Amino acid sequence: MTFTQERTIADQVRLDFPILHQEVNGKPLVYFDNAATSQKPLFVLDTLRDYYEQYNANVHRGVHTLSAKATEAYEAARDKVTAFVNAASRQEIVFTRNATEAINLVAYSWGMNNLQPGDEIILSVMEHHSNIVPWQFVTAKTGAVLKFVELTPEETLDLEHFQKLLSDKTKLVSVVHVSNTLGCINPVAEICTLAHKYGAKVLIDACQSVPHMPVDVQQIGCDWLVASGHKMCAPTGIGILYGKLELLQAMPPFLGGGEMIAEVFLDHSTYADL
Ligand SMILES: Cc1ncc(COP(=O)(O)O)c(C=O)c1O
Repeated sequence: MTFTQERTIADQVRLDFPILHQEVNGKPLVYFDNAATSQKPLFVLDTLRDYYEQYNANVHRGVHTLSAKATEAYEAARDKVTAFVNAASRQEIVFTRNATEAINLVAYSWGMNNLQPGDEIILSVMEHHSNIVPWQFVTAKTGAVLKFVELTPEETLDLEHFQKLLSDKTKLVSVVHVSNTLGCINPVAEICTLAHKYGAKVLIDACQSVPHMPVDVQQIGCDWLVASGHKMCAPTGIGILYGKLELLQAMPPFLGGGEMIAEVFLDHSTYADL
């Protein structure tokens, strides 16, 4: 496709999104709800079509050509995500269904197994409910307690209040990077430094930052970070969990089956401790 000089960048970008080539209520469709989910450009739609037409197969679970090709593409995507968020190793990237599942993975695998009655989890009042409800489940089961950082009068995260909430009881801080409701950018590297002084772990909900700004997990210093594919032009049904390798290795499986064929034992006591 060639572009004339009169076309604005917006016109050019619109060409990439077939869903925008329609009218709603007699007017050209304008879509502003990208924070909820983004539309998908032709390149993504073509890639999906190519996958299903050329090499759809089980990833990591087949010995035939299509499976090898699908596995290669799947692992190449892991390398791209590793570089995109600057993880130290590709083993630190886990694919999930969405950010909600990534948070639940940490809540069930780490939270349920590491929190005791009286331990504290710090969230903020600006969290998406996907970063609240899993922790409510965890506190109901473990007896840990939720604390919420308030906002400043300017509706940004109140860092002074955060520092007051931090104590030796704090075991986890789970906060959003860029708020989906307020649009503010939280000082996540500083939050990690402060929380780590008390030995607390930090999870960053980066759903709204990864699509729009450089996000470097090593520079932030977080223990886990979650993001969502469908908010950054990927198909629905893909999320990522970044986790520091030693933490991920210490976390028991959250879901069983799938690629865990080698884990099948006839001795059922093997998993009694999970
Ligand atoms: C800040 C934030 N966290 C979490 C989520 C949930 O993401 P997902 O749909 O990938 O589960 C959203 C979605 O709107 C969000 O904006």
